[in-house]
Amino acid sequence: MPYATEENITELAAERWATAEPPRLAELMGALVRHLHAFAREVHLTEDEWAAAMHWLTRTGQISDDKREEFILASDVLGLSMLVVQMNNRFGPDATPATVLGPFYIDGSPTAPFGWDMSDGAEGVPLFVHGTVRDTGGAPVGGAVLDVWQADSDGVYEAQLGEVDEARLRAKYASRPDGTYCLRSVVPKGYTIPMDGPVGELIEHTRISHFRPAHIHFLIDEPGYEKLVTHIFEAQTSYLDSDVVFGTKEELIVPFHHHESGAAPDGTRFDTPFATAEFDFVLQPKE
Ligand code: BEZ
Ligand code: FE
Repeated sequence: MPYATEENITELAAERWATAEPPRLAELMGALVRHLHAFAREVHLTEDEWAAAMHWLTRTGQISDDKREEFILASDVLGLSMLVVQMNNRFGPDATPATVLGPFYIDGSPTAPFGWDMSDGAEGVPLFVHGTVRDTGGAPVGGAVLDVWQADSDGVYEAQLGEVDEARLRAKYASRPDGTYCLRSVVPKGYTIPMDGPVGELIEHTRISHFRPAHIHFLIDEPGYEKLVTHIFEAQTSYLDSDVVFGTKEELIVPFHHHESGAAPDGTRFDTPFATAEFDFVLQPKE
C-alpha cells in the first residue's frame, strides 16, 4: 500500500474501511470516510477548527446521561433525525405521517380507559383529544393502543422533573371496537430545547429559533400496520414554521377549540373552561 498523501488518503482510508464486516458496515464506513474527507477539503478545515470540533464532541458526550441525549439533540437540530424518519416511513398519502420520537418518551406508561385524565394534577386548561383510529381503506381499527406523552402547560416533560410518584401526562389508551378514542390532559405549551449544553452553545451563534411548537406525542404500534410515531400540533401555537427539529407537518396541525362550559367528548359536563381537539389517526397496513 502506498504511503498517504493529500491526494490519495481518501481512497486509502475508504479501502481500509471496506474490509469491515458485515458488508453494510463496510458500506456505511466507506461512505462516511468519503463524505468526511470531502467536507474537510471543501471548507479547508484548519487544525484549530478540527481541535475545536473534537472538543465539542467530547463535551457533547460528557453532558449526556440516561436522561439527557445531547447527540440525539444535535442530530435533531441538524435535521438528520427528521431526514431518517422521512426516508424510513414513506406511507401512502392518506396515512397519518410520522415525525420525530424525541428524547422524552418513557416506556411502560399505565393503560387508561376512554376519557381518563392523564394530567395527574398538572395545572392547565383541561384538554380532550378524541377521534378515531382507522386504516387507509377507511376501516376502523379497534383495540389499537395509543401511547401518549406531552409537556405540561409550562412546556416541561415528566422526564425533566426529578422523582415523580405517578405517571405524569403520559398514558396508553386503547381505541374502542368502532375505532374511537378519547384522552384527557391539559393544553400543552411550546418549549425550548435544552440550551445549556454544547448544542445550545452552537445555536447561540445563529439566528435559529430554539423552540418547538406546542404538541402531543403519539406512538401506535399495532400488529399488521406500520408503526406510527407522530405528534399533533396545536394550530394556534407559535413556532409552527420554525420548529427547531423540523418535525412539523401540515397534516398534523389541529385546531384546539376552547369552550367556556358544556359537554365534553367523554360525556362529562364542564361549568369551567376546557378545550377539545379532534384528530383521526390513519394507519398504513403492512405490505
Ligand atoms: C420532543 O418533541 O419532545 C423533542 C424532540 C426533539 C428534540 C427535543 C424535544
Ligand atoms: Fe415533545
